[in-house]
Amino acid sequence: MTAPAPRTPAARPPAARTDVTIGVDLGTSGVKVVAMTAAGQVVAEADASYPLLTPQPGWTEQRPQDWLDGVRRALRDLSAQLEALHAAPTALGLAGQMHGLVPLDASGEVLRPALLWNDQRTAAQVAHIESRVPRGDLVARTGNRAVTGFQLPKILWMQAQEPELYARLRLALLPKDYLGFVLTGVAATEPSDASGVGALNLARGDWDADVLGALGLSAGLFPPVQPSVAVTGTLSREWGDQLGLPAGLPVVTGGGDNAAAGIALGLGADRPQTGSVSLGTSGVIFAPQGAPRPDPQGRVHCFAHADGGFHLLGVTLAAAGSLHWLHAKLAPDTPIETLLAEAAQVPPGADGVTFLPYLAGERSPLMNPDARATFAGLSLAHGRGHLVRAVLEGVAASLADTHAVIRPLSSLTELLSTGGGARSDLWLGMVS
Ligand code: XUL
Repeated sequence: MTAPAPRTPAARPPAARTDVTIGVDLGTSGVKVVAMTAAGQVVAEADASYPLLTPQPGWTEQRPQDWLDGVRRALRDLSAQLEALHAAPTALGLAGQMHGLVPLDASGEVLRPALLWNDQRTAAQVAHIESRVPRGDLVARTGNRAVTGFQLPKILWMQAQEPELYARLRLALLPKDYLGFVLTGVAATEPSDASGVGALNLARGDWDADVLGALGLSAGLFPPVQPSVAVTGTLSREWGDQLGLPAGLPVVTGGGDNAAAGIALGLGADRPQTGSVSLGTSGVIFAPQGAPRPDPQGRVHCFAHADGGFHLLGVTLAAAGSLHWLHAKLAPDTPIETLLAEAAQVPPGADGVTFLPYLAGERSPLMNPDARATFAGLSLAHGRGHLVRAVLEGVAASLADTHAVIRPLSSLTELLSTGGGARSDLWLGMVS
């Protein structure tokens, strides 16, 4: 009698792995990362916050090392989720806050904390740029007048105020491009973010040597410009090990945050009638264009889009930021929903109370870093609901000022709403 052969469990076929791409948004309050399938389904997400430094009124900075620590935390979290889901990353794409200056020395070391998009210290440098390149000429070439938040005047500020550091400056990177540089060892940028530097020739899609020459700067200070969908390089082994992601993963150059959001909303030159209005910390109106058609006065921005086209962008610097300011100063212990309900009880026009939302200076359409906010029209009869309603209406009116500039330059008939403020029907109704 022969013993029955021992039964071995049939080898299970390995679980099919789902291919996902990873998106990284290097924002101002923190970094958000997502993993999506090719069908657009988000299967995992994570985030990490980092501090905003305000060393002086009007100055905003962040330490690039804090960005890297946040990216490490968020992507380790994401890669652990992907492992559990049997999902395989096939590429990683970058998006992020625009305009900031990450100054690097010859060995790629960061020379000082990054100056951010909402930093307003460069009024003298903006005046200097305007004295060297007439406004109309700068707008025709770059799509924009000189703007305090842009990277170009920040470089001139370093030259004037920190000459020892400036003498060591070899490469000026934008925030998300710095992250790409660290992850891959390759310095590159793409048109949507590069057009927010203030020195990109929009029609040519490359650095404008005449503008830079007029300021005594060289195009060699900036990374090469490649298409937004191009691969910058591949994830280094060192960073792959730190993040729990495969070394060699392609890293895609990506887009500035507004362009990336535009792509996510399906906004492009094939549908120029559809734009977006975002009620975030800042309020943004986005209008796609097939060819660059800037406002000759530069009251709104004209940037390259990440799809190869262009777009107009108007920015109200303190939109939901104004509401959060009022909430924090007036009634921090009251839920914001209660304040919004009180505002809804007040008639349109807030019984004569008006608010100008220039708490952080203003971009569109004023382009004035020194503009300041005001409440006006107050009387003994007014209460908290009036103040809240006036803030909502003031932000809506500021967006309307921007829309009035954008409309004749665009084909807009429809705006999709985004941002946390769009959750308020009251506010969205005013804006629409
Ligand atoms: C756009 C701008 C902001 C930042 C915020 O011009 O400054 O939207 O990109 O992240």
